[in-house]
Amino acid sequence: MAEARFGGIKIRHLYKIFGSQAAAHVDAVKKGMSKTELNRLHGHVLGLRDINIEIPSGCIQVIMGLSGSGKSTLIRHINRLIDPTAGEVLVDGVDVVKMSEIELRDFRRHQTAMVFQKFALLPHRNVLDNTMFGLEVQGVEKTKARDIAMRWIERVGLKGFDEKYPNQLSGGMQQRVGLARALSNDAPVLLMDEAYSALDPLIRTDMQTVLLDIQSEIKKTIVFITHDLDEALRLGDQIAILRDGEVIQQGTSQDIVLRPADDYVANFVKEVNRGRVVQVEAVMQPLTTGYASSGLTIAASSTVEEAVRQLSKAEDSEVTVVSPSGQPVGVVTFRQLACSMVNSDSEDGKPSPNLVAAL
Ligand SMILES: Nc1ncnc2c1ncn2[C@@H]1O[C@H](COP(=O)(O)OP(=O)(O)OP(=O)(O)O)[C@@H](O)[C@H]1O
Ligand SMILES: [Mg+2]
Repeated sequence: MAEARFGGIKIRHLYKIFGSQAAAHVDAVKKGMSKTELNRLHGHVLGLRDINIEIPSGCIQVIMGLSGSGKSTLIRHINRLIDPTAGEVLVDGVDVVKMSEIELRDFRRHQTAMVFQKFALLPHRNVLDNTMFGLEVQGVEKTKARDIAMRWIERVGLKGFDEKYPNQLSGGMQQRVGLARALSNDAPVLLMDEAYSALDPLIRTDMQTVLLDIQSEIKKTIVFITHDLDEALRLGDQIAILRDGEVIQQGTSQDIVLRPADDYVANFVKEVNRGRVVQVEAVMQPLTTGYASSGLTIAASSTVEEAVRQLSKAEDSEVTVVSPSGQPVGVVTFRQLACSMVNSDSEDGKPSPNLVAAL
């Protein structure tokens, strides 16, 4: 039986080979033929190899990777803009790959919405009409569609701009329209392929805030592609890193920053401000039960930066870490916090053995 429609996504053993004889080469790829070999021997391009990602409903999944690593190919499988060569894409337990044309059309209209990098607004329609567009396609009655669209226009911060045309808006404002249009759809799955990459850094940060703010209310399943690590760390409940069509690491921001799987990932995280990502829980010394906390306490999920701020303010050198229920679970010193904020003294971006030992 199908699961309820909340937008949970499971991608299983997904392979994509581009080329006229793709299916004929999938076994060789499964047995380990490399992307280069496949191209050299058969003139086919390996887009994705054995992708397995589970995205719980209501979670923001970030996909990162260098240009050509397969990010767009992957996200386009979720609403089957691309057909896989092998594998499953389950949304709420239903395999998108096996859907008929009619099922697929219904699925795309009602279960997914996309926000595009280049906004993809219709130039001769104003903000309101652009926002209503998807609803019109769905055949939603006009007054109702208008009400829904106006609500989202307001929610993304464009109140009063509903009669403006795209060329009268800045890039950031145009992307707000793109977001309002996608959200008007009320689909549980939101697909965003480099949606913020064309925006200036400050506008981009604003748009991240808008998304997080809205997400805290609507709790959609969001697949968000970005090249930008800060954006990934800020938005992603889960992050998957792709290289040459393969997932080489997946985990939380903290997993990726503290334990990069290889040099490729280490390179991404080299410059990151660890204090804003690493949580106190990962740095503390765990306590044995029965410890009574005295003095300063801090939540286990607080960032290292927050703990340092509090210790500095209190002019203290040690803080007791507490669980959500207020139980003391660990202790962390100023020195440990400071060490955990140091990026690395090595070239490859991995924490030095000394740092790891100190933690
Ligand atoms: N239709 C296609 N035909 C042949 N090869 C393709 C096709 N689409 C993508 N590819 C190849 O698949 C690989 C992954 O491309 P994809 O566009 O998914 O990368 P990306 O990570 O989204 O890159 P970017 O960051 O530049 O957007 C690349 O090697 C690309 O050349
Ligand atoms: Mg792309």
